[in-house]
Amino acid sequence: MLFSLEPKATRRELYDRDRELNELSGSVDRGDRIVVVYGIRRVGKTSLVRAFLSEARHPYVLVDVRQVYFTEGSVSANVLVRYVLDGFREFMGRRDRLWASLRDVLRGIDWVRVSPGGVEVRLSRRSRVDLTELFRAIDEWCEHNSTRFVIVLDEAQYMRFSNIRYDGVLAWAYDNLGRVTFIVTGSEVGVLRDFLRVEDPEAPLFGRYIKEIYVDRFNKDASLDFLRRGFAELGVAVGEGELVEVYEHLDGVVGWLTLYGYLRGVEGLSHKEALARVLNDGARLVLSELEALIKPSRARYLAILGAVAHGLNTWSEIRRYVEVRTGYIADSVFNRLLMNLIRYGYLGKAGDAYVIQDPMVARAVANVSIG
Ligand SMILES: Nc1ncnc2c1ncn2[C@@H]1O[C@H](COP(=O)(O)OP(=O)(O)OP(=O)(O)O)[C@@H](O)[C@H]1O
Ligand SMILES: [Mg+2]
Repeated sequence: MLFSLEPKATRRELYDRDRELNELSGSVDRGDRIVVVYGIRRVGKTSLVRAFLSEARHPYVLVDVRQVYFTEGSVSANVLVRYVLDGFREFMGRRDRLWASLRDVLRGIDWVRVSPGGVEVRLSRRSRVDLTELFRAIDEWCEHNSTRFVIVLDEAQYMRFSNIRYDGVLAWAYDNLGRVTFIVTGSEVGVLRDFLRVEDPEAPLFGRYIKEIYVDRFNKDASLDFLRRGFAELGVAVGEGELVEVYEHLDGVVGWLTLYGYLRGVEGLSHKEALARVLNDGARLVLSELEALIKPSRARYLAILGAVAHGLNTWSEIRRYVEVRTGYIADSVFNRLLMNLIRYGYLGKAGDAYVIQDPMVARAVANVSIG
């Protein structure tokens, strides 16, 4: 069903995305070592990666780093290793012979416990979890089996909440492991860029080739076609004018289109109710991520975004608005906050004017209280 809410898992279930899928599989088959899949919230990154994994021949693990962070409170090496080992289980059920040989390799690591039920971390006082040891073992196993292992770190920007520097680990893997590909995804594009620091000569990943795949919104034709097909599948008649309204509010973000379709087509909400619910959920999601980012200067950040959402677009107009709302602000501070919002994708620039490109963000910040 086109309007099913969980991430899609096969190419057949996906609307469109053939180009992105082919790009992803081409890149992994070529042996690229790090692939980054960028795209805003709900645009279909996880679905794309899952569809790729389902048709690729490669063994893999997929770690939902955002979920790890919210469940565990941090993404320490111990925690990450535990999730990687857990991820083997899925694969274990499917490919017995291969799995048995991987299990033998893992047995050689003294802090890993292999039992009939699975693999676990077992720490004694002397042993220490060492990610590089685990990745090297996987790489050697691939060498013997002429295969390539794919490690997916979904929403990898959450790896910054850790006691270790994962960009260093990735750089080490890039240099030393020929048969492991990391696919990292991120919806907070600026945050992920900051975490990887590919352009920073002082940073470990500097100068490495990283393949980037950008998952974009659907254009108007594709969005309308997607909605029509989804409703046709459910046998629900909808008005063309309503669909155009949905496109205009949700701006081609497939996750929101899907939610609208589900609420209306499956749950039976009216057009107006369904659209209102989606806009509400969207605003909540935007705000929860924004809150984490702007914590140290919440009022000022929100004042900047509020100014732009209300149509003030130039540097001096925005600055004046911020001072009226939150008091004196030095130029340097104001510029830094503006730059951060641009870097993290909440603000864009068109000529001299500052704009909010994402209508979901505009709605969310227009109504939030600065207090
Ligand atoms: N190409 C597609 N065709 C049909 N439905 C899709 C497509 N891509 C995504 N979806 C649907 O959109 C929703 C969001 O998809 P998904 O979870 O893959 O996006 P995401 O970018 O990973 O989201 P998040 O930022 O929350 O992690 C899901 O309901 C999924 O089924
Ligand atoms: Mg996702």
